[in-house]
Amino acid sequence: MGGMQLYSVIITRDKEMKEKLSPLHFNQPMINDAPVVLTFCADFNRFTKWCNQRKATPGYNNFMSFYNASIDALIVAQSFTLLAEKAGLGICYLGTTTYNPQQIIDLLQLPKLVFPVTTITVGYPDETPQQTDRLPIEGIIHSETYHDYSNDTIDKLYQMKEAIPENIGFVDENHKETLAQVFTDIRYTKKDNEFMSDNLIETLKRQQFL
Ligand SMILES: Cc1cc2nc3c(=O)[nH]c(=O)nc-3n(C[C@H](O)[C@H](O)[C@H](O)COP(=O)(O)O)c2cc1C
Repeated sequence: MGGMQLYSVIITRDKEMKEKLSPLHFNQPMINDAPVVLTFCADFNRFTKWCNQRKATPGYNNFMSFYNASIDALIVAQSFTLLAEKAGLGICYLGTTTYNPQQIIDLLQLPKLVFPVTTITVGYPDETPQQTDRLPIEGIIHSETYHDYSNDTIDKLYQMKEAIPENIGFVDENHKETLAQVFTDIRYTKKDNEFMSDNLIETLKRQQFL
């Protein structure tokens, strides 16, 4: 945004650092297994320092600046991902960065106005998994204006996802009636989301973005 480059990337290769990072990502195995872990951060620290050193008064300790810097960081992460995959590398995004931001900030020694947005593990893959299912393209594009979904359309769009044997297995294993309940009751619950929202807001305050 504005050519400000509001991002920083922390490269973790060191075994000990990875061992410390692992529990912050709920011990997901790729942190230790992949040779490289990248933490993409929204960064208004560097730009703010430049302003201060150049007799300019920065006004970036607010939510708008966090949001802008996060967009910058995510664009960089996804651009890296495309280039890495083109070069034959494999990546995995880790959403757990959003769950434990304070501990990640402490371990990676991120100063105020720097916030971890997403993490990507990188390495040469030893398997070629099937592509994850996607909604049909007509389910995500809207011509000229947003066309809200009828019950029928929702049924049609999610039919394929619901028919995947692995997903049918998740419903059975968890003794649920529908696949949607696996998301709402187990994977991404209201209680967890509310707890983590509070945590995120607290951490944003500590990093001086709020
Ligand atoms: C924002 C985000 C967070 C993710 N977090 C995790 C994670 O914590 N652990 C994990 O195994 N996969 C994670 N994934 C990977 C997804 O579960 C899924 O495997 C991936 O998006 C599939 O990509 P593909 O369809 O391009 O292969 C995440 C993906 C995204 C985009």
